[in-house]
Amino acid sequence: MKRFLSGIKPSGELNIGGYAGALRQYVAMQQESDAENFYFVPDLHAVTVPQDPKELHQRSKEIAAYYIAAGVDPKKSAIFLQSQVSAHAELGWLMETQAYFGELSRMTQFKDKSEGKDAVSSALFTYPALMAADILLYQATHVPVGEDQKQHVELTRDLANRFNNKFGDVFTVPEPIIQEVGCRIMSLDDPGKKMSKSNPNKSSYVLMLDEPDTIRKKLARAVTDSDMQVRYDWEAKPAVSNLLEIYSVFSGEEIPVIEKRYEGQGYGAFKKELAEAVIAKLTPIQERFREIVDSEELVSILKDGAERAAAIADETLRKAKQAMGFVVF
Ligand code: TYM
Repeated sequence: MKRFLSGIKPSGELNIGGYAGALRQYVAMQQESDAENFYFVPDLHAVTVPQDPKELHQRSKEIAAYYIAAGVDPKKSAIFLQSQVSAHAELGWLMETQAYFGELSRMTQFKDKSEGKDAVSSALFTYPALMAADILLYQATHVPVGEDQKQHVELTRDLANRFNNKFGDVFTVPEPIIQEVGCRIMSLDDPGKKMSKSNPNKSSYVLMLDEPDTIRKKLARAVTDSDMQVRYDWEAKPAVSNLLEIYSVFSGEEIPVIEKRYEGQGYGAFKKELAEAVIAKLTPIQERFREIVDSEELVSILKDGAERAAAIADETLRKAKQAMGFVVF
């Protein structure tokens, strides 16, 4: 039996990078017949950097609504908020006792997020131990993520092995699942940087809720490479390669098919039709999102998801505590 688990932090508006690297994989994983799926909103992770309480509240519901709108089916997947299953915080603490200062110091996400800042929370530093707990609580076998989370999943594997060697076999050692195409969508103004909402240039990313005209404008403005050829070559043509990956993710077509269609045509038609492919995929997701984001239906899906999740998480936590020597009745 496979168990898939993953999540997207409610720390800003979702851009199409998160969809390409993560969310669309969640939907695809549900097709596997012998699998159980857990997709949660890591709200405890979001507060490792300052959050406005009202925004955190709304964004947490929004991320869950994106899951459902994109096709995560609450019948096949437990959809829940991390903070509603208290075992996450508790196992997170226990995993902190197993993680070394040195290995946490090597996490590139921590280095990126703390660089040049004076007031960095200690939770931002220990964040990967909580992420390990998220995964290990469900005995997940597979964790679908984008490229930037690979290092965290590898640390999770190390912590699971370390724990099992010391205290006996409690945790399943998980594997990351990273798609070849779409695992690292880059910024539209600089293919050397990951597409991210923290970029001050609003044209550098496409948001899941962007209007069709905004999407057309942003993609028309996207930087390209100098020779006018639509060719997939990350070394020589990173900007066009990034656009080709976005095209492939949103149209469902293979990259060579797309390259062939635009052979000898320059970038004009390519960029226009890329925008239409993105719009065609996002429009029904946006419609469904608006229907459910503030609905009772969403609340009941999240309550049900948290109950299903807690039943499994509490059991794993009990085993881990017992193995470590805590008195468990
Ligand atoms: P987060 O919230 O930064 O990103 C959510 C998911 O989206 C992927 N992603 C991207 N993929 C391709 N191109 C991009 N530009 C892009 N931007 C984001 C990320 O790789 C990720 O898969 N620590 C996690 C959240 C988390 C988690 C977990 C994930 C907490 N606990 C347990 C899996 C399992 C994070 O910050 O992802």
